[in-house]
This record gives sequence, C-alpha cells and structure tokens, in this order.
Amino acid sequence: MRSTRNTCLVLFHILLFSLLSLKITASPRTQADALIRWKNTFSFQPSSLASWSLTNINNLCNWTSIVCDSAGTVSEINLSGENITGVLTEFNFTEFATLTRFDLSSNNIEGIIPSDIARLTELEYLNLFYNYFNGTIPHQLSNLQKVWYLDLGANLLESPDWSNFSAMPSLQHLSLDLNELHLEFPSFVLNCRNLTYLDLSLNKLSGQIPELVFTNLGKLQYLNLTENQFHGPLSTNISKLSNLVQLRFASNKLGGPIPEDIGLLSDLQLIELFNSSFSGKIPSSLGQLKKLQILDLHLNALNSTIPSELGLCTNLTYLALAKNQLSGEVPLSLSNLTKLSELGLGYNLLSGLQLFFNNLNGTIPPEIENLASLATFDVNTNQLRKTKLIDKETKSSQWRDSSESLIWEREGKFTFGDIVKATQDFSGEYCIGKGGFGIVYKALLPTGQMVAVKKLRMSDTSDVPLSNSQSFENEIRVLTDVRHRNIIKLHGFCSKRGCLYLVYEYVKRGSLGKVLYGLEGKEELDWAARVKIVQGVAHATAYLHHDCSPPIVHRDISLNNILLEADFEPRLSDFGTARLLNPDTSNWTYSCWLLWLHGSRACPHNAGYR
Ligand SMILES: *[C@@H]1O[C@H](CO)[C@@H](O)[C@H](O)[C@H]1NC(C)=O
Ligand SMILES: *[C@@H]1O[C@H](CO)[C@@H](O)[C@H](O)[C@H]1NC(C)=O
Ligand SMILES: *[C@@H]1O[C@H](CO)[C@@H](O)[C@H](O)[C@H]1NC(C)=O
Ligand SMILES: *[C@@H]1O[C@H](CO)[C@@H](O)[C@H](O)[C@H]1NC(C)=O
Ligand SMILES: *[C@@H]1O[C@H](CO)[C@@H](O)[C@H](O)[C@H]1NC(C)=O
Ligand SMILES: *[C@@H]1O[C@H](CO)[C@@H](O)[C@H](O)[C@H]1NC(C)=O
Ligand SMILES: *[C@@H]1O[C@H](CO)[C@@H](O)[C@H](O)[C@H]1NC(C)=O
Ligand SMILES: *[C@@H]1O[C@H](CO)[C@@H](O)[C@H](O)[C@H]1NC(C)=O
Ligand SMILES: *[C@@H]1O[C@H](CO)[C@@H](O)[C@H](O)[C@H]1NC(C)=O
Ligand SMILES: *[C@@H]1O[C@H](CO)[C@@H](O)[C@H](O)[C@H]1NC(C)=O
Ligand SMILES: *[C@@H]1O[C@H](CO)[C@@H](O)[C@H](O)[C@H]1NC(C)=O
Ligand SMILES: *[C@@H]1O[C@H](CO)[C@@H](O)[C@H](O)[C@H]1NC(C)=O
Repeated sequence: MRSTRNTCLVLFHILLFSLLSLKITASPRTQADALIRWKNTFSFQPSSLASWSLTNINNLCNWTSIVCDSAGTVSEINLSGENITGVLTEFNFTEFATLTRFDLSSNNIEGIIPSDIARLTELEYLNLFYNYFNGTIPHQLSNLQKVWYLDLGANLLESPDWSNFSAMPSLQHLSLDLNELHLEFPSFVLNCRNLTYLDLSLNKLSGQIPELVFTNLGKLQYLNLTENQFHGPLSTNISKLSNLVQLRFASNKLGGPIPEDIGLLSDLQLIELFNSSFSGKIPSSLGQLKKLQILDLHLNALNSTIPSELGLCTNLTYLALAKNQLSGEVPLSLSNLTKLSELGLGYNLLSGLQLFFNNLNGTIPPEIENLASLATFDVNTNQLRKTKLIDKETKSSQWRDSSESLIWEREGKFTFGDIVKATQDFSGEYCIGKGGFGIVYKALLPTGQMVAVKKLRMSDTSDVPLSNSQSFENEIRVLTDVRHRNIIKLHGFCSKRGCLYLVYEYVKRGSLGKVLYGLEGKEELDWAARVKIVQGVAHATAYLHHDCSPPIVHRDISLNNILLEADFEPRLSDFGTARLLNPDTSNWTYSCWLLWLHGSRACPHNAGYR
C-alpha cells in the first residue's frame, strides 16, 4: 500500500519535472538558436535577415521579422515576401508553442506542411499563401483551434481526406484557392460557423455544394467557388446567406435555374455566375439589389427576357448577359443605369437595340464614338445571324476549352500556375510593358528561366471573327514551331479566365523603341549595332516569307516590335498576333471602355488597364 503511494509520488514528481523542463526549454535563447538553425537551411540567405545571427543571439526581440510577448518569447514571425527558399520541415515547432501569428506568404518555401504545425497551439493567424507547398494538407492543422485567419492559397496542395479534420470554430477567413484540391467540398468547413470569408476557387473540387454551406455559414460575406467542377442545381437556401457581399460561382457546372430568392441578399455588390450552365430565367428579383455593382451572367443558357427590373439596380457599373439565349426587347429601363461603363448583350436573340441605343445617347462616355456601328453589329448578331452563330459558338468554346489544357511548352517545363505565382497573379509590379495588343509581364519560373508573358483580354480580341478561332490556334501552333535566332521564341499559350496568354522568351533590353526613346534615356546605338539590327530583321522576314510553310506575314514591323538582346541582336516579336488582331482596335484606352457587345470579358475587374 505504502510502496504504491511512494511509487505514485515518484511518478508524479517525474511527470511534474518533465512538464517544467518542457516549459524551460522554450527560452528566448533556444528559440533564437532554432531560428538560426532554420535559417541556415535556406538555400539563399536574404540580407534582410542579417540580424538573425549567433553574434546577436541575446537580442532576439530586436531581430527583423520577430515580435516578442512581455515574457520575451516570440509571439509573431512575419517573413512575408522575404524571398525565402527553404522547407518548413526544418522549422522546430516545439520551440514556438507561444506563437500567435505566423506569416510566410509570398516566398519559395517548398515541400509538405509538417503535421508538427499542430504544436503551435496558441496560433491565431497562419498565412502560407503563394509558396510551393505540396502534398496533402495535414489534418492536424485543424487542431489549431484558435486560428481565425488561415490562408493556404496559391500552393500545390492536394485534396486530403477531409473527414479527419475537426471543425475550427474560431475560423473567420479561409483561403484554399489556387491549389490542386479535388474530390468533394471540404466537410470540416461546414462547421466553421464564424466564417465570413471563404475562397476555394481555382481547384478541381466536384460534387454538389453541400446544403449546409447555406444553412450553417450565415455569416459569410465573401464566397468564392469559381473555377471548380461543382454541379447543381444551386440551392434555394442561398437566400439564407443574408450577409453576402460577393458571390462568385463562375466556371462550374451548376446548371438549373438561378434561384429567384437571390434577390433577398440585399447586401450583394457582386454576382459572378458566368459560364456555369445556368438555364431558365434571369430572376426579376435582382432588381431589389440596390447595392449591386457587378452582375456577370454571361455564357450560360438563360432563355428568358431581360427583366426590366434590372433598371432598378442603379448602382450597376458592369452588366454582362452576352452568350445566352435571351430574347425579347432590351428593356429601356436599362438606360437608367447611368453608372454603367461596361455592357455585354451580344450573342442572344434580342431585339429593339437601335431604339435602346438612341435612348442611351448621352449616358455613354464620349470616348465611344462608334457606338452606332456597334449597335448595328449587335442587331445583326441578335436578329439575323442564329443557326450559324450557334455553330461558331460551339467551335469557339471547344477551342477555348481545349486550349486551356494545352501544355505550355512541348517539353512541359512550366504550367500556368507557375506563371500566376511568378507574377503574383499578374500584379502590376511585374508589368514590363503595355502595347497595342496587351500587357506584358516578366515572370521568373521555378526553373530559373525568365520569360515574358503577354496577357490579352478576350473581349479585346473579340474583333477576331469567331470562325477564325481555329486558324488562330493553328497559327499559334505554327509559331511555337518557328525557330530562328532573330525571331522571338513563343514558348506556348493558353486561354484561361477569359484571357489569352502568350509566353515568350524574355529579351533583355526591351524594344528598339524603348532603347531609342525610352524613359531611361537614349542609348547610343553605334553603326555596328544598327547594321546588326537591320540585318537581323531582314533575316527574320526572309525566313518567315520563304522558309515557313505556309508563309507568315508580319504586317506590323515597328520600333516596338523589334526587341534587343544584351548584345543588340534583334528579335522580331508580335507577329501572328498582329496579323490576327484587327489593327484598328489596337487602342487600349479606347477598347477597354468595352461596350464589347459580342465577346466575353472575364478578366478580373479593375485590372488597371485604363
Ligand atoms: C534594439 O535595437 C535598438 C536600435 O535598433 C536599440 O536601441 C535597442 O537597445 C535594442 N534593444 C535591445 C534589447 O537590444
Ligand atoms: C507581414 O508583413 C507584411 C509587410 O511586410 C504585411 O503586409 C503583413 O500584414 C504582415 N503580416 C502580419 C500577420 O502582420
Ligand atoms: C531571391 O532568392 C534567389 C535564390 O532563391 C536569389 O537568386 C535572388 O537573388 C533573390 N532575390 C533577391 C531580391 O534577393
Ligand atoms: C526542437 O526543440 C526541442 C526543444 O528545444 C528539442 O528537444 C529538439 O531536439 C529540437 N528538434 C530539432 C530537430 O532540433
Ligand atoms: C513536393 O516537393 C518536393 C520538393 O520540391 C519534392 O521532392 C516532392 O516529390 C514533392 N512531393 C509531392 C507529393 O509532390
Ligand atoms: C464567433 O463569433 C462570435 C461573435 O463575433 C464570438 O462571440 C464567438 O466567440 C466566436 N466563436 C468562436 C468559437 O470564436
Ligand atoms: C475570390 O473572391 C474573393 C472575394 O470576392 C476575392 O477576394 C478573391 O480574390 C477571389 N479569389 C481569386 C483567386 O480570385
Ligand atoms: C453605390 O456604390 C457606391 C460605390 O461605388 C457606394 O458608395 C454606394 O453606397 C452604393 N449605393 C448603394 C445604394 O449601395
Ligand atoms: C427555356 O428552356 C427550358 C428548358 O431548359 C424550357 O423548358 C423553357 O420552355 C424555355 N423557355 C423559353 C422562354 O424559351
Ligand atoms: C427611369 O427611372 C425613373 C425614376 O425612377 C422612372 O420614372 C423611369 O420610368 C425610368 N425609366 C425607364 C425607361 O424605365
Ligand atoms: C446622340 O446625340 C447627339 C446630339 O445630342 C447626336 O448628334 C447623335 O446623332 C446622337 N447619336 C445617336 C446614336 O443617336
Ligand atoms: C487612340 O488613343 C489616342 C489617345 O490616347 C487617340 O488620339 C487616338 O485617336 C485613338 N485611336 C483610335 C483608333 O481610337
């Protein structure tokens, strides 16, 4: 009896001692050690982390990117955008049980998210956005019960078995967008009832959107399921998401009607339901949405009239109904939408357009001078041109779908995802030029290769007759095969998110125009350089005309289309595009006012083109 008690006492002391020693081990000193050890595994040492060093070991709370609590232990680590190339498996989670905020976004961290991350039990904020994390998301992550902000977006994460996850009741913001998630909707999310922001877009999730999304997640303000494979029909319970400000379900396979009750979501400012196989009516209840600024329903199978109630959404700046089977007259009430800057009605069966546009006169920005001709075109597409049109449409959408999955380069060296990451989703920071036919970005690929990416909005290429889509594709294919030292190499292309992307080799000095007249000041071009340029361009054109079959005609050789390598070797660019796009619409300021009556838009709003 007694000896048992003694044994218990001893055991108790051992336990107490080990608990204490655990606590003691996480001192500022050992934390500093752990950070230095982790830093030493990075394959590149950012100069900004110079303070993380043994000589500075007693100043942990003064290190860059580190915040301490009152006890002098680390409470926040923020390495966002520090160009870190490493792995998280080398991070000693045991040491950082007191961490509340951990921000590693916008780096080059690769490998798995270790399950040990669950040791950060005090964590409230975790941001791993825009790295190269791969493998499955560890279910232990859901043990972090204090986390309210979780961003794992823009990585290479795969769909785990969601049934192993626990609910995260504190979660308010969850981003899992732009990953490789497949299978069904993540079930644990359905019990995160405090969620206000949910972004699962750009994955491969399928199945139905669970009813519990609508009944349990009533606090949601932002819901984005764009570009997945969810199928419908869309629940009428959608009206229970009464706090919704933005609803994005585009590019899924929802089908069925748009629920009439959508008009009860009175806080909605943005609705994107394009390209999701919706059929039936445009709900007249939309007219109740006084805050609505963006309504995009294009590329569905809606076959009603346009409800005149839409004219009551006076805050609308953007209205896209193109590419449906809408019929009847365009309601004159739409001319009350005085804030409207973009309107897409084309490829429907509408009538009454001349009348409509006469009424619009005065409300459209004066920049749009050829309104009359656009209107004429629209009337034609809507009234005369029906069977043929559908035919062309089918072809065009097939083309777009198939080209989406095209591998960029034959050798398959990079993917669209790499480009998105390398340009931080086409952020202005990476813009290296804006020209007649698009915006050009530079992108450093994971392979270390620098490329130039030209992004064209489909809406601005809509002057390419749709019947030419096929030849456009063929032409691009031909261009990917062209190999000549004086012709820019086109690595590949794809159409995605309503834009066309062309990926070229990156040319160091930029265009001849820029070299001669650019902001960086005129550069001296000696005679040798000039001769080199002229000869190079002559070689390129001779090659295109005589050695290519069929011959390729550039038609637009200009200072801006001749790019120069470091040694002034010229590279001819922009052929093909120039040939295919109508030169008259090459004015961005002009064409971005849109009134694209017949194309699809679908680039991000406010993309900054103007
Ligand atoms: C932190 O650095 C500042 C100067 O950057 C210095 O004045 C201060 O004494 C340092 N604090 C500690 C605890 O080392
Ligand atoms: C981390 O720092 C970046 C800027 O360097 C900032 O934008 C971001 O909000 C910070 N993250 C946290 C969690 O404070
Ligand atoms: C970022 O890291 C890479 C290596 O991963 C290095 O080559 C590059 O110079 C770094 N960039 C900056 C701005 O430090
Ligand atoms: C992590 O830290 C703990 C506590 O200081 C220590 O016992 C352990 O050995 C460390 N792990 C590694 C891999 O360094
Ligand atoms: C994850 O990335 C690492 C390093 O880039 C690689 O070695 C590993 O094979 C990848 N794992 C998976 C499951 O893709
Ligand atoms: C959910 O939100 C409410 C109100 O904002 C808050 O009182 C409650 O504590 C939150 N629940 C959790 C588990 O964080
Ligand atoms: C999804 O929608 C949300 C809210 O509307 C937005 O903040 C987010 O950027 C979107 N995600 C992507 C990948 O565009
Ligand atoms: C209309 O939109 C503007 C922002 O563009 C906003 O300030 C205003 O409150 C909105 N009006 C209504 C009725 O919501
Ligand atoms: C719209 O299409 C549905 C089938 O999808 C059909 O039942 C209905 O009659 C059509 N309505 C009109 C007005 O054409
Ligand atoms: C435009 O709005 C005014 C005021 O609400 C209304 O009286 C008028 O009938 C509307 N015009 C059309 C064509 O619906
Ligand atoms: C628009 O109004 C102006 C004068 O107010 C007129 O000259 C022009 O012809 C009108 N355009 C159309 C398309 O009705
Ligand atoms: C293009 O824009 C410029 C001003 O930015 C303007 O002068 C010119 O007329 C426009 N060209 C066309 C074809 O609209």
